[in-house]
Parts: sequence; C-alpha cells; structure tokens
Amino acid sequence: MNVHTSIPLKNYTSMQLGGPARFMSDVMTIDELHQVIVNAQSRNIPFFVLGSGSNVIARDDGYEGLVVRVRIPGFEVIAEDSQTVTIKVGAGEIWDEIVARTVDMNLTGIEALSDIPSYCGAAPIQNIGAYGQEIADTLTSLEAYDTTSGHIVALSREDCKFTYRDSIFRTDARGRYIITSITLELYKSTPEPPFYKALQEYFDSHGITVYTPQAVREAVSAIRHEKLPDPAVKPNSGSFFKNAIIEQWQLDELLAEYPSAPHYAMDENRHKVPTGWLIEQCGLKGKLLHGMRVNPANALVLINESAASYNDLSLARDKIIQAVQDTFKITLEQEPLEIV
Ligand code: EPU
Repeated sequence: MNVHTSIPLKNYTSMQLGGPARFMSDVMTIDELHQVIVNAQSRNIPFFVLGSGSNVIARDDGYEGLVVRVRIPGFEVIAEDSQTVTIKVGAGEIWDEIVARTVDMNLTGIEALSDIPSYCGAAPIQNIGAYGQEIADTLTSLEAYDTTSGHIVALSREDCKFTYRDSIFRTDARGRYIITSITLELYKSTPEPPFYKALQEYFDSHGITVYTPQAVREAVSAIRHEKLPDPAVKPNSGSFFKNAIIEQWQLDELLAEYPSAPHYAMDENRHKVPTGWLIEQCGLKGKLLHGMRVNPANALVLINESAASYNDLSLARDKIIQAVQDTFKITLEQEPLEIV
C-alpha cells in the first residue's frame, strides 16, 4: 500500500475541478484500511473516502487530509432459495460490472441501475436510484469499518436509514463508517411492469414486450446515453441537485399557476417535483453560467464546459438556486457531496 502526496483532485472527480489532496492511498484489504486510518488518526489527519469521484466535488483549496480509495474486491453468492439469490460484493468492485454480472445470471433487482458510475461501496451512501429502482430495495445489509472503534460492523438495511438520495452515511453518521462490502438480495423472477415512464416508452417504441433483466439494462443504457452526458467527454457529476420534495399545500399553489407541472406522490403529504423542470421553467436550460453548461438534454445536470475553478461552479449553482427560489419559493439541495 502506497501513500501518495499532493494529488490533484480534479483528476479524480468527474467534474474535473478542485485543488490537491495532501495524501492519497488505495487500500485492497481490511487490514490495509485499518492501518491507514489508525495512522491518520494518530497524527490527527482527517480522512475522506473517495469512490469513482462521480458524485463528489472538490474545492479549490483541495483537501488537507488523506483521501482513501477502497479497492477491496469480492463477489460471492452467499445464499440461494427457489426465488432469490443473495450476493456479497466487495466495496472496491465497479458497480456496473456487478450489475452486468447479475443480469447475466438472469437476476432482477438492480438492472435499472445500469451504467451508474460508482464503486459498490459508494452506492449505498446516496442510495443510488434510477428508472424505478434504488439500492435500498435490494440491499439487505452491509459491512463497514467503524472508524470510532476500529472494528468491522454489520449494518442492516434499517440501520442505514435509506431515504430518497440519502442515508446515515451522508447524515447522522457522516464520516464514521467506511463500507467494505454490500449484500444484495436479488430475484429469480423477471422485471414486472409498471415501469418508469421513460422505460415503458422505450419498450413501446422498440416493440419490446418480453421484459427481461437484459432488456431493462439495454433500455436504461440507451436512455442514459441520450439524457446524460458521458463524464469522460463532458465533465459532470450526474444530477447536480436532488429533485424537489414539497408538501401538499405547495403543490396546490404550484399547480394553480402551472397546471401541467410534473409531480409524483411520495407519501400522503409529500410530492416530488423534477428539479430539471423547475430549472427549465426559469429559462436556464442550455445556458452557460460561469463556464458551467446547464445540460440541454436534462437541466438537472451541470456540465463543466469551461469553468476555471470550484468558485465558478459555486457561482453557477447559486444563480440556479436563486432563480428557482425566486420563481417557485423552492430551495434546491445540491446532490454531490463536497470533499471537506
Ligand atoms: N424534466 C423536465 N426538464 C428537464 C429534466 C426533467 O421537464 O430538463 C421533467 C420531465 O417531466 C421528466 C421528469 O422531469 O419526465 C423526469 O426526468 P428524468 O426521467 O430525466 O429524471 P430526473 O428526475 O431528472 C432522476 C435522477 C437520475 C436518474 C433519473 C431516472 C435525481 C436527482 N436524479 O432524474 O439520477 O437517472 O431520475 O430515474 O433523482 C443522478 O442521481 O446522478 C441521476 C442521474
């Protein structure tokens, strides 16, 4: 295990912005992870766990601490019955390779999460979700290194407190646990309608009536290809904001003024309104703000076209938040975490 110094974080984050990390280390085993963390703690050096860097933003002053990249491998079927197969996967496995593998095994449960740039250990943190599935639906438990005790602990799905794009790893227990493996229970049955609107539209327009995990994977891949810019070509962090969650009275007010506003019920009193739509209504879709392009295919994604710094990104972000606030009295929440 090597520890590198002064590593430019813009090379390790898909938005391609930000200053250097003081230290960076890749760990392949739990023992190596334990060693680097204990070492950092003994010197009072803060640490940040980085996955693929596709949902984190680095600031211009970089990070005065240790960036740890967990590369612990592993793929194991740990249980099977007539309806389900349970797999345990190392945090360092590439998420989409695991999705491909389970689809090849004809299993249902994560096929709609195809093509999400992530390592498996990062996937639960923001409860990755797309096209009608989220990891909280299939994750039964995970193992994590508890940096307060130095031991591996098992956390159940309930312990993780998953909600829309959130979990304890971003809230109450931020920075405490380092995920080392995840356990997913997948189904031997085929995917069942109703499907996410864009997915059903794809099936209909391609005459697909037999729904297999492979068919869903291919459809999701095609839709993502159209809507979401490839970070390798156009630096971005996927959705830059969470979709807005508003209460019934706010929805009533919104619909009084914008009767065709898209909205989805979350529970009795709360509704999700696509932030891409809100930004579009403010006339910002496709606009270039401080070097950041509001993606013309989906206004929820910001593309770093010519931003010189994190500062440019934050100016663009604040302009968008202000415009949505002024027009709709809705406060947007940034989706990617910042390396602090
Ligand atoms: N819409 C607009 N204008 C836009 C964008 C969206 O009007 O510019 C409206 C349309 O009504 C559309 C609806 O928003 O039908 C939903 O759009 P889309 O299906 O593209 O999804 P999204 O809400 O913009 C979310 C996730 C994505 C995920 C897709 C598909 C969040 C923050 N984003 O986006 O996740 O791929 O659904 O399930 O929840 C990510 O997290 O990085 C990400 C890409």
